[in-house]
Amino acid sequence: MTLVTGHRGPAGDVAASALIEEDAARGTFRVHRSAMTSRDVFDQELERIFAHTWLYVGHESEIPEPGDYVRRPVAGRPVFMVRGAKSGQVNVFHNTCTHRGAVVCRRDRGNSKVFQCFYHAWTFDSEGSLVGVPGRDAYGEKFDMSSLGLARVARAESYRGFVFASFDPQVTDLVSYLGGAREYLDLVIDEADGQLQIISGTQEYGMQANWKLLVENSIDGYHAASTHDTYFKYLVSLGTDLSVGVSGVTKDLGNGHAVLEYLAPWGRPIARWEPLFGPEAKDEIGTLRARLVAQHGEERARRMCDLNRNMLIYPNLIINDIMAVTVRTFMPTSATSMAVTAWEAAPRDELPEVRQRRLDSFLTFLGPGGFATPDDIEALESCQQGFASGGVEWNDISRGMHRDPQATDEEQMRAFWRRWRDQMDGAR
Ligand code: FES
Ligand SMILES: [Fe+2]
Repeated sequence: MTLVTGHRGPAGDVAASALIEEDAARGTFRVHRSAMTSRDVFDQELERIFAHTWLYVGHESEIPEPGDYVRRPVAGRPVFMVRGAKSGQVNVFHNTCTHRGAVVCRRDRGNSKVFQCFYHAWTFDSEGSLVGVPGRDAYGEKFDMSSLGLARVARAESYRGFVFASFDPQVTDLVSYLGGAREYLDLVIDEADGQLQIISGTQEYGMQANWKLLVENSIDGYHAASTHDTYFKYLVSLGTDLSVGVSGVTKDLGNGHAVLEYLAPWGRPIARWEPLFGPEAKDEIGTLRARLVAQHGEERARRMCDLNRNMLIYPNLIINDIMAVTVRTFMPTSATSMAVTAWEAAPRDELPEVRQRRLDSFLTFLGPGGFATPDDIEALESCQQGFASGGVEWNDISRGMHRDPQATDEEQMRAFWRRWRDQMDGAR
């Protein structure tokens, strides 16, 4: 499907404002389906969004020691982050040799003093300096190795362990960018005593669906009861009380970030017991909870223990603090497909029994073979197939526009779409 002429601006680019129809008086919000199918939209997203925002690279806990590195694509570009042996800082480099281009970091993770390009063996250290050139004499005396170090991405900053990069040197500082999302990120980090750690192991999968469908789905409270019916039945079979339901609020956190904060029937390793965890876990979870109350006071501890958070850090980072904490990022590979990378996060010094329950809880629902992820992929691919059928031009995202947004409403998605529209139309 290509865009109809009316969605193009005078310069020939896509006018995203024509793809979003918001009518506050009538309480309607619609998104044109070409936003999920058009190649022109996809190209413009790469240029106007992914080249200019902060994007998640990884977590500092993945590279605790000097020389530790992880390599991964960010916005489809190969980069790697490495802890510098001299500085102790996290360096984020473009993964390309300054000689003639080959990628210099060729493994997903590891520890290394140097990165040697396999093509002609130029060698760089963990701070990016070029430290070895075979047959250096051939370049003459004026050859300036100091100017041929690895290129850093334009900006890289860390917020309490979460490392972000931007390809735009003019991008605002990370803390300002995170804005209203910080409070929620802080809750997740403070639950872990400030020592949140990514558990080793990465989940990678793909789906035949536009990336924005996963943005919506990751913060969608409305679909839980229907799409994940099997999971709820499973919980009931273990003795979980479903009468709690899903209740809470959704919030626009500014800059396109959004959160859904709610009470749900499932348990939380920090620190809300449920039958899935087994009776022997009750005391321990009670102790955890008491500790959080002592540290943070009744109200904040209650949010940490009882409430779930599905959070979008615009444009493509999801931190879902639910029956386990998942960190998930994804990137369009075309207008109709995406690649997803996900990790589980946990407090570093968690007791082994609690860790075990967390891992079980994570895999049962959130893992690629769990109750939720395959169902969600099926739903999103089904939407994409539905778009190809044609006949209907608009998606409806109006739910809850006439009231204070609740957990099953769609205000959080509207927050994303408004920012998406503005950036697509040139806002920085
Ligand atoms: S391309 Fe890396 S050494 Fe030649
Ligand atoms: Fe889901």
